[in-house]
Amino acid sequence: MTDWSKSLTGLHERLWQDLADALAPPARRVVLSSISLTSGPEARMVVLRAADRGRAEVAVHTDILSTKVAELRADPHATIHSWNETLQLQLRLRGTMRIETGAAVAHLWPRIPDGSRSSYGVTPAPGTPIPASDAYDRTPDQAKFAVLTLEIAEIDAVHLSGDYHRRALYRRQDRWHGAWLAP
Ligand SMILES: Cc1cc2nc3c(=O)[nH]c(=O)nc-3n(C[C@H](O)[C@H](O)[C@H](O)COP(=O)(O)O)c2cc1C
Repeated sequence: MTDWSKSLTGLHERLWQDLADALAPPARRVVLSSISLTSGPEARMVVLRAADRGRAEVAVHTDILSTKVAELRADPHATIHSWNETLQLQLRLRGTMRIETGAAVAHLWPRIPDGSRSSYGVTPAPGTPIPASDAYDRTPDQAKFAVLTLEIAEIDAVHLSGDYHRRALYRRQDRWHGAWLAP
């Protein structure tokens, strides 16, 4: 039996604990949605790299030349979707994305494992047409390392359970007080 989703405070506590737990290796894959440069919504899987309850922010890492960065520069509105199968908990974190690279994130580079660093430094740039599947180079390049930080405006949480499914919306402008929604 899960009591944590029966109160707005309990669910809010649990969802932030879920995001903190998601950072432990292997970090959770989440879906990042943005507004495409050409038409409508776009989505892709990314790895959750940070979760800060005090600031109500979560972060992911990417290549500064990737299409998602261009999209977020054009329109910073974004949603991160998370699903915890064990908890039966879906989160939609909606907000605006802050894009940081260079000196602002240089302190993180030494903590990036060697195997992951090559994700930041694909040549030609991610999404560029290439003549063969392996016609690209992956050389770690700190200058291409970017941190995308979602400044969360609202969290839509859905908990599936045997008796009642429960859904709540928490908004920054309401100081995360929360309100129940029909699921
Ligand atoms: C399991 C998985 C994890 C991924 N993690 C990341 C990630 O943390 N950061 C990232 O930029 N791309 C990640 N990718 C690749 C993206 O899904 C996407 O293909 C790539 O970033 C290009 O997206 P864009 O063209 O929308 O920028 C991951 C893909 C998979 C399948």
